[in-house]
Amino acid sequence: KNIVILISGGGSNMLAILKAAQRDNWAAQYQAQVAAVISNKASAGGLVLARAQGVATEVLDHTSFASREAFDAALMARIDSYATPGHPPLVLLAGFMRILTPGFVNHYAGRLVNIHPSLLPAFAGLNTHQRAIDAGCQVAGATVHLVTPELDHGPILAQAVVPVLPGDSADTLAARVLTQEHLIYPRAVVKLLQDK
Ligand code: GRF
Repeated sequence: KNIVILISGGGSNMLAILKAAQRDNWAAQYQAQVAAVISNKASAGGLVLARAQGVATEVLDHTSFASREAFDAALMARIDSYATPGHPPLVLLAGFMRILTPGFVNHYAGRLVNIHPSLLPAFAGLNTHQRAIDAGCQVAGATVHLVTPELDHGPILAQAVVPVLPGDSADTLAARVLTQEHLIYPRAVVKLLQDK
């Protein structure tokens, strides 16, 4: 079973997944491996991390496509090139900052996963940490969920809660949440691999 991870930035969640796959021998345990990391940004720092781990990387620059649909079709073709017989890839969004079309989402229904830095359904969308602080929340966190056409609203696979501390900035809260993301994302992927 091949896994493809989509990134746009630093890729810390991607790296946490790669390290868990190595540490817990997903290849032997679940016949699963991360086949490729694909980014829509050539500048994504996660590409350097993936290459350092010996994982194939690709860049698909969304600005070089005429439409969102054209980009998604090209991305689907690249992802599906990593399919193995009887096993379409498991696609993990990890800091992937593109809205995906319903056609793309439906093509990967049930095997497209995302991590969102809030306790969904609260704070779907962007700037989640500042919004939680501004709302006076006493807890915050992250959610791993299956992706559906409605942004940030698919079935929840895992969540983690952290305290919002007095004097927290969006950055200090983000760092506390990110630490938990790196724990819950690999665990959620393992559960999916065990179910397959
Ligand atoms: C994290 O806040 C994550 O929740 C969101 O993107 C941010 C950066 O993730 N999906 P990463 O370091 O690029 O994995």
